[in-house]
Amino acid sequence: MKNNASENYVIRKATIEDLDNIAQLEATCFPAAEAASKESFKKRLERYPDYFFLLFISGKLISMVNGLVTDTPDLQDEMYDDAGLHNPGGAWQMIFGVDTDPAYQRHGYAEATLHAFIDNAKKEGRKGVVLTCKDKLLHYYAKFGFENEGISSSTHGDVTWYQMRLVF
Ligand SMILES: CC(C)(COP(=O)(O)OP(=O)(O)OC[C@H]1O[C@@H](n2cnc3c(N)ncnc32)[C@H](O)[C@@H]1OP(=O)(O)O)[C@@H](O)C(=O)NCCC(=O)NCCS
Repeated sequence: MKNNASENYVIRKATIEDLDNIAQLEATCFPAAEAASKESFKKRLERYPDYFFLLFISGKLISMVNGLVTDTPDLQDEMYDDAGLHNPGGAWQMIFGVDTDPAYQRHGYAEATLHAFIDNAKKEGRKGVVLTCKDKLLHYYAKFGFENEGISSSTHGDVTWYQMRLVF
């Protein structure tokens, strides 16, 4: 049953204090082979907390979107764990993960968080946003204007990923 996201949520950027909740949400949403580790999130949060958008309901973390900024136009696997590749002046906003707590899925919370993240990238003057996803979610990201660029070079978690790009 899908409802529109109600207005009872708050979206904000992350701080290092959010590390435990972020790692926990990721482990709940992704299989172990695909989930980013707590150590990887720690490095990302130390380097680019402003590129983590978190949605809370009554203080509980429900959804998040994160990723670094780079001049490299294609999303590459080494970006996940090498936070040093973040370039604040870069042209492209990457999305590494979109997560919603399973108990809260299909209520529009990922959509609300994605809109906030995309709007921020637009406001910051990026060329656009790039992500990779499995085939079952191609239609979902297409609703936001992302175009499918075909199978990505990613071998992350040993599954097939498609690269999608939203150009502003
Ligand atoms: C994908 C995910 C972030 C969506 O979060 P959400 O808050 O439920 O998303 P929204 O409510 O904005 O949108 C729901 C829509 O997502 C799509 N969707 C979500 N899960 C899906 C699935 N397993 N298969 C197909 N479509 C799916 C559908 O279009 C759905 O709309 P519907 O309910 O009308 O069918 C969430 O399901 C999740 O965390 N999944 C596990 C992690 C993951 O795969 N993340 C994406 C990595 S690219």
